[in-house]
Amino acid sequence: MLVKMSELLSKAQKEKYAVGSFSVANMEIIIGILNAVEKTGSPAILQIAEVRLNHSPLDIIGPMMVAAAKSSPMPVAVHFDHGKTEEKIKSALEIGFTSVMFDGSHLPFDENCSQTKKIKTLAEKYSACCEGEIGWVGGSEDGSEDIAVNCTSPAQAKEFFEKTRVDALAVAIGNAHGNYKHAPNLRFDILNQITPLISAPLVLHGGTGISPDDFRKCIKYGIHKINIATATFDSVEQSVRQAYQSKSINGYYDLHTAEIQGAYNNAMRHIEIFGCAGKG
Ligand code: 13P
Repeated sequence: MLVKMSELLSKAQKEKYAVGSFSVANMEIIIGILNAVEKTGSPAILQIAEVRLNHSPLDIIGPMMVAAAKSSPMPVAVHFDHGKTEEKIKSALEIGFTSVMFDGSHLPFDENCSQTKKIKTLAEKYSACCEGEIGWVGGSEDGSEDIAVNCTSPAQAKEFFEKTRVDALAVAIGNAHGNYKHAPNLRFDILNQITPLISAPLVLHGGTGISPDDFRKCIKYGIHKINIATATFDSVEQSVRQAYQSKSINGYYDLHTAEIQGAYNNAMRHIEIFGCAGKG
């Protein structure tokens, strides 16, 4: 069933687990993730970032994401990730996305506050939620930029939250998008300072390559939404490659099945680590 992100995250906050927010690119990935969600009785968020729309047009994949969430027996939110333009954010809301992120992390602080607040007001008109970001998560969602990590300042996070009242807040604690070149050294000390200052659930971007122990520590210290993109795409690719190597692809629909299996495997692995199985 299609639900609001805040519904999923407030339960996660109370019961101390995290909900996986999985990036999708096509129908096979959506099906694989929702199969894992159903198998484990877990909630989930399906998301797509604005930079990916050149591959997966919003007016095609958006309605498919919403329809897939509605058809799932588990609670599933549909989220617009790293929204950059009001135009696309509005289109996602019109399609029925139940939450949107405005990524103003690279804007001057006051501008990030005012633009995020504007998007939060827009989202409210659609009864949708809004996520904001403060600090710089490294890399970029589609790998096109190499942004350096700039950890969130707890004082700025507090001020940003008071000014915007976002429903979820993404923080930078040494995390980065894409595959890490070196194991990340997450700043749990900073996370520990931010959590008591913000009543909204905190979000960890750049989930790919973070160890199970670090994920569990993040959840313990206040992260309740974890974004996973690259790990899904890598798992799909690997599943397809293995299927070709083992000569089990004898036509298009075997390829389709291998893609679904890759997305399923990755979602199953993360659902187990995030502690959200049985919480749907
Ligand atoms: P990864 O590609 O590192 O999993 O990051 C995903 C993400 O944060 C999407 O917003």
